[in-house]
Amino acid sequence: MPKGTYIFPEGFLWGTATAAHQVEGRNQNNTWYAWEQEEGRIINGHQSGLACDWWGGRWREDFDRAQAGGQNAHRLSIAWSRIQPEPDRWDEDALDRYREMLVGLRSRKMTPMVTLHHFSEPLWLAEMGGWENEAVIDAFEAFTRKAVEALMPYCNLWVTINEPNVFMLGAYIEGLFPPGKKDFNAALQVMQHMIRAHARAYKVIHELQPDARVGSSINYRGFRSASWLPWDRLAAKALHTLFNDLFPRTLKDGVFNTIRKKTSIPEAIGTQDFVGVNYYSTDMVRFSPFAAKDMYTKRFYPEDAALSESDFIANIPEGMIEAVKWAGGFGLPIIITENGVDDSKDSLRPRYILEHLHALWKIMNANLRVEGYFHWALVDNFEWERGWTQRFGLWGLDLETQARIRRPSVDLYAEICRTNGIASDTVEKYAPEVMETLFPG
Ligand code: NOJ
Repeated sequence: MPKGTYIFPEGFLWGTATAAHQVEGRNQNNTWYAWEQEEGRIINGHQSGLACDWWGGRWREDFDRAQAGGQNAHRLSIAWSRIQPEPDRWDEDALDRYREMLVGLRSRKMTPMVTLHHFSEPLWLAEMGGWENEAVIDAFEAFTRKAVEALMPYCNLWVTINEPNVFMLGAYIEGLFPPGKKDFNAALQVMQHMIRAHARAYKVIHELQPDARVGSSINYRGFRSASWLPWDRLAAKALHTLFNDLFPRTLKDGVFNTIRKKTSIPEAIGTQDFVGVNYYSTDMVRFSPFAAKDMYTKRFYPEDAALSESDFIANIPEGMIEAVKWAGGFGLPIIITENGVDDSKDSLRPRYILEHLHALWKIMNANLRVEGYFHWALVDNFEWERGWTQRFGLWGLDLETQARIRRPSVDLYAEICRTNGIASDTVEKYAPEVMETLFPG
């Protein structure tokens, strides 16, 4: 078999990603905590509890692990509910805590990337109607100003809103995230408010920090027509337009296009410096006339795809190529802000990482500028409505003892980060089953 290394560009960001509510623990003042208290909302009645105890200081040991693993960047989120516990009160201690974390990253020679909104938000915001109330735009602007003023000495890479498309779907269409609505019109209203809030935040951040780089993270889902039938193809295309395209397209051309209706949001034009892409998997799509609640589609995984432990994710690395090609269409640099798989036994993850990074490397050679890759996640964490049933960490977590469990992928990812590439020896060692695909001959 041939030997070699697929090398990434110099200065490429290699990191992992996390989000406040999923790792910090002990936050009782946000929408997700309240949601966890309601019966039937989270699988098996799981709760975030202490989570990975980052609020108690265990971020230090996890950052040490990331640094020892050769990572030169980390993406985390800050909790709006901690920084602004009430509409008229800022918590300076919470800001100090985040300051410490960012200094902690810098002192470990890791570039911080900070997300301002990652699914959870203050209870007072929910009480005033959350993202359905237009007032959220001013509120998000004020929060952004406060947080960025405090943290900009340590960070200039910002994600305003994480996965606005998943948030819209989970919270306002499927009813799986708080506030648990199933209302398509409300979902579109929320999305427009998120776009306008993003645009405001973009402007505020640049006003405060001219050299800032600001983007959002979109969950790019591959949608492939299950056949050549025109209605299946149209169904796949409609999902792509509404799920993948809606948010970032509006930031490019100022037109909020829901297929049925176009609304102009001119203030959104040009409010991204990079496109953040979270890519996990790809669906086959069939038109389904009776499935109104699934937007008249049936989605499923290809029969031959390897599935993750909970069948939640199919290993479809070609989707990474499509995602990056699509993101490249916005004419901006790209950062892979998430990619990963639930796998407590680490039986699929090594191959998943290698195949997705190989796909990424291939498409980068088509002259698409990708600046970094953040694996989801550094350590197992609270997986929203799926509780602790899904384990996405390079490191496992024993919830009882807070002990971290070293999975083989820790060392695999460290080899990738340290060599700034994918070496044939690494593939041979961690996922020999894909050697023939990655290094044929
Ligand atoms: C994307 C979300 O941003 C993150 O919070 C979640 O844990 C991962 N997907 C895995 O489902």
